[in-house]
Amino acid sequence: MLQVRVKPGVEKKIKSGFPWVYRKEIASYSRTPKKGETVVVRDFAGRFLGYGYINPEVNITIRLLSFDKEKKPTPELIKERIYRAYQYRKSLNINSNAYRLIHSEGDFLPGLIVDVYDRWIAIEFTTYGMEEFKETVTETLKELLKPKGIYEKVNDFSKKVEGLRGEEQLLYGEVPDEIVISEYNLKFYVNIPEGQKTGMFLDQRYARYFLKNLIKGGERVLDVFCHSGGFAISAKKAGAKEVIGVDISDLALELAKKNEKLNGLSGINWVQANAFDFLKKQHKLGERYDVVIIDPPSFAKNKAAVANALRGYKELLVRGLHITKPGGILAIFSCSFHITEEHLLEVLKDACFDTRKVVRVRAKTYQDLDHPWILQIPNTLYLKGIWVEVLT
Ligand SMILES: C[S@@+](CC[C@H](N)C(=O)[O-])C[C@H]1O[C@@H](n2cnc3c(N)ncnc32)[C@H](O)[C@@H]1O
Repeated sequence: MLQVRVKPGVEKKIKSGFPWVYRKEIASYSRTPKKGETVVVRDFAGRFLGYGYINPEVNITIRLLSFDKEKKPTPELIKERIYRAYQYRKSLNINSNAYRLIHSEGDFLPGLIVDVYDRWIAIEFTTYGMEEFKETVTETLKELLKPKGIYEKVNDFSKKVEGLRGEEQLLYGEVPDEIVISEYNLKFYVNIPEGQKTGMFLDQRYARYFLKNLIKGGERVLDVFCHSGGFAISAKKAGAKEVIGVDISDLALELAKKNEKLNGLSGINWVQANAFDFLKKQHKLGERYDVVIIDPPSFAKNKAAVANALRGYKELLVRGLHITKPGGILAIFSCSFHITEEHLLEVLKDACFDTRKVVRVRAKTYQDLDHPWILQIPNTLYLKGIWVEVLT
């Protein structure tokens, strides 16, 4: 196996459990590295630190799979990790037949996302090194879950950065365009091949449930960036009187409308619009809501994009604060690791200053537990939500 030595000092973070080695941290290779091959990582003095895989073309050059000399980066290790991830999900007793089975570094399987939708599975490889284990992953999932179909999704960002070979394709069996999944007392259609991400934003499951418990009956609710209508439908089902869902995607709204019906509901106003324009208009018109949910896509895929993203958040929050009734609830989310909880709180404070509003923090929510957050791997926590009550 290729031997890689890291520069002095880098061993500290690896020993603490952080599984990435950046290109600038590498001191030497035993020979020229090949994209995707497995490696042994050693400290500057040559002592063992871990096993991983390498992509010399990217900034995060090595991702570690094991810190244990006895656990080599073999297909057996991948299989063992998948089984372990499954045991953890079983222990959670999630109130849904749709869940994230593998959360990349959160399950010590960097570069692998696996979402289960009832009897169907969506897989996403986000690194070249993990793609090398595609057959092992597929075969293990077949053995473990006996699915009816497995579909590979490819995200354009990873494909470009990592130079992935995969195409969106059926890997096994059949996958229908419409799978019905249940979540608490709700049902949703999921379209794996055509949908965003792997088909549904499973990570917001707990937040959708949290919203349900906030609704007492009769509220006016606005779900901005609603996608397939999760928050809007949760609110309506719980007794909200007037609900509006806004998204830019026609396909998402089509799904949202179907989901409304599927849940025996009617009357939600689905609006196809750019959220920024929509909120601006609502503000100008003097509209007011009891609950405003703002769940935008990732505005910052890397550090360089943070400043711009924060400007976007500021605008959303200023508008959001203006249109939330006194005593009403405003929720804001970031699904980008780079926009942290601290960023959200800071920009919220700024927006409160500009709008002369005072808010009481009512809750913070995070990705649901089937998207595990490893304390030593900060990147595994990506979804944060702040719920505030607008007091003035
Ligand atoms: C993170 S998802 C929202 C997930 C949703 N809250 C749920 O629980 O399923 C972000 C959504 O924003 C939509 N979107 C992206 N840019 C937009 C824009 N400028 N205006 C309105 N919607 C937008 C996407 O189509 C996507 O459905």
